Amino acid sequence: MAPMAVALILVPPPSLSLHPSQGVTLGDNVTLRCHLPRMADWVRLYQYGKTTYIKQKDKVQDMAEFSLNGIKKEDAVSYQCRYKGMEPAGTSEKSDPVELVVTGAPTA
Ligand SMILES: *[C@@H]1O[C@H](CO)[C@@H](O)[C@H](O)[C@H]1NC(C)=O
Repeated sequence: MAPMAVALILVPPPSLSLHPSQGVTLGDNVTLRCHLPRMADWVRLYQYGKTTYIKQKDKVQDMAEFSLNGIKKEDAVSYQCRYKGMEPAGTSEKSDPVELVVTGAPTA
């Protein structure tokens, strides 16, 4: 099997969810939950299309929670998370992107 396929099986991508997922207005707080299939060394949160992560949590089991407080219009983008598995070790692909829709923010 190709190395890429092995990595996908051993370190499957996480999934990201937004809470609340709708009805977010400027100034609100939003929680992003990255759900992991296994224990992770670290979990990182990214804005879609960016290579640098914006937040990190270490030693996570099952789920990492990231808070965005005081939502601004620049925060109305898509987010992704990824993790580094401990056992087996390896870095996952990024999750499917989840869009934070902010009402009251101009749509791009
Ligand atoms: C957002 O979180 C901050 C810090 O936890 C809190 O002080 C504030 O009241 C929260 N704002 C809203 C709109 O829930």
